[in-house]
Amino acid sequence: MELIQLTSDYEMKPFDCGDAALNGFLRDDAKLFLETRLAKTYLLCDGDEIAGYYCLLNDKLSKKDIANSDWRKIKKLFPHSKHFGSYPAVKLGRFAVSIHYRNQGLGKKMLSIIKRRLKQDVGDSQFRFLTVDAYLAAVPFYEKNGFKRLTPTQEQGDTQAMYFDINSVLEP
Ligand SMILES: CC(C)(COP(=O)(O)OP(=O)(O)OC[C@H]1O[C@@H](n2cnc3c(N)ncnc32)[C@H](O)[C@@H]1OP(=O)(O)O)[C@@H](O)C(=O)NCCC(=O)NCCS
Repeated sequence: MELIQLTSDYEMKPFDCGDAALNGFLRDDAKLFLETRLAKTYLLCDGDEIAGYYCLLNDKLSKKDIANSDWRKIKKLFPHSKHFGSYPAVKLGRFAVSIHYRNQGLGKKMLSIIKRRLKQDVGDSQFRFLTVDAYLAAVPFYEKNGFKRLTPTQEQGDTQAMYFDINSVLEP
């Protein structure tokens, strides 16, 4: 399989992960997100087929947005002199595996690729956490892959805020 970054001239292939919003994003919005600098999308391709995709954008974890008990755990990851009101993060904006590839470990593999690439520091900027607003049904999947739940101070609707510490990725 090959990981490619979506470009404006990429000829989009059909993709079905069983979720209309995530299918629609890839079909109708992903290129516009790229062109308007809102998010980059990456495709995991198996020959001509898109087996999975995800998109990434900048984010931050802020003290004001999450419960004190969660913030204490996050603060503990830093020396006292670096106890700030927020910490830089990258958000996993969308994440989906095709129904044809489901439950074969591809989601786990795709998350490992993301974590490794982020740890390798390919960009020019810096961040500590990977965040996701997870579908409630997918929370166990993220927990199995090292994400922790956050309790937001404001009601979040039908998603669960979660984070992953990039520093917990072991060097290859
Ligand atoms: C969630 C998703 C990405 C997982 O991809 P996948 O390739 O099937 O995942 P993997 O094969 O790596 O892992 C499967 C494991 O996660 C668990 N899992 C996956 N989806 C789950 C779900 N919706 N609810 C509960 N557990 C789930 C499986 O039980 C399995 O556990 P096991 O390893 O103990 O057997 C995929 O189901 C998907 O694309 N769903 C629709 C879109 C979606 O919900 N995206 C997340 C948006 S936040």
